[in-house]
Amino acid sequence: MSRTGPNPETEVFRSVEAGRIEPSWIASRLESWFPGHQRDLPWRQRRTPWRTLVSELMLQQTQVSRVAERFEPFMARFPDPDAMVSAGEDAVVAAWEGLGYYRRARLLHAAAVAIRDDHGGEVPDTVEALRSLPGIGRYTAGSIASIAFGRPAPIVDGNVIRVIARIDAIDAASDDPGLIEHCWRRAEGLAAAAESPGIVNESLMELGATVCRPGRPSCDACPLVDRCAARRAGIEDSVPRPKQPPQRELVHLHSILLRRGDRILLRRRPAKGIWAGLWELPSVESASRLEPEAVAAGLDFTVEGLRYVESFRRLLTHREVHFHVHEGRTRVRRGEWCDREEASTLGMSKPMRLLIDRRAWGVTD
Ligand code: ADE
Repeated sequence: MSRTGPNPETEVFRSVEAGRIEPSWIASRLESWFPGHQRDLPWRQRRTPWRTLVSELMLQQTQVSRVAERFEPFMARFPDPDAMVSAGEDAVVAAWEGLGYYRRARLLHAAAVAIRDDHGGEVPDTVEALRSLPGIGRYTAGSIASIAFGRPAPIVDGNVIRVIARIDAIDAASDDPGLIEHCWRRAEGLAAAAESPGIVNESLMELGATVCRPGRPSCDACPLVDRCAARRAGIEDSVPRPKQPPQRELVHLHSILLRRGDRILLRRRPAKGIWAGLWELPSVESASRLEPEAVAAGLDFTVEGLRYVESFRRLLTHREVHFHVHEGRTRVRRGEWCDREEASTLGMSKPMRLLIDRRAWGVTD
């Protein structure tokens, strides 16, 4: 049952089903609109199934502009699934830096292994086979199957939800389960009615990102405006309603810079939880801020002369992380003592990389 608005059993969705715009009209409008209005994005310049798979995985949770910057260097490094398998998981995680949600990098490597072992090195071309790959769910399988192989598979992401909630005038929160279910059914109808399902799907995303934006949409530029129910009802600015912002857990991360000549001590984070498996300065995590003595006591080796240096804060989707940087000395020899070159090849979160660049190597930009 929905917390925030109507569900499929209610009148809102039934009346929408009855009076909705024909899927074939929407599909053909979008197919005519897309070629002249799409953004110039690297994965659109040359399409192969592997490039589509990698870009769609990156785009799941990362902004288009950030993916656009990283895409070609990443593809040059891993031009096909075999190259990715040979490079190894750590190399993929390191190259993923700045894209966030690093678990996706490990899943992408695992998907490359499955493509090599189970699909003769070629990206599979059906929704079912794509969904069996690590890291690929209903949305990503639909986007790859439609964009790379022209299959009539539906896709629903945040942009698509906004477009459909508006053309059907559904006054619900954008994470309302009833609205999302309605969107999947609607997207199925659109993909089935399309001449080019990949173009219709990409146009829905593109329209949501560039025209039918949150807040104030640019209805004058919209190919669907003539029949948009939200526009007709004058509710295009407020539909769908925003979802509740995530509750963030507060985490204090006390990190310690320890030097030996031109080397610093680095450690790998646990395989589970925040920044799983990435490298960092030895750190102590807690729910509240700790004094230097308590930080020293939280380590599993001895440090001396621990001195607080600076603090800064980073907001992640589900966490607010307060970094507290310390410097100290240790006699411990075991562990990974890395120079700048070695550290640069290890996967790290973006804030940890910047912190180390600044404090350990004196890089300021
Ligand atoms: N978001 C997810 N997939 C996308 C694509 N192919 N183009 C633009 N934005 C997207």
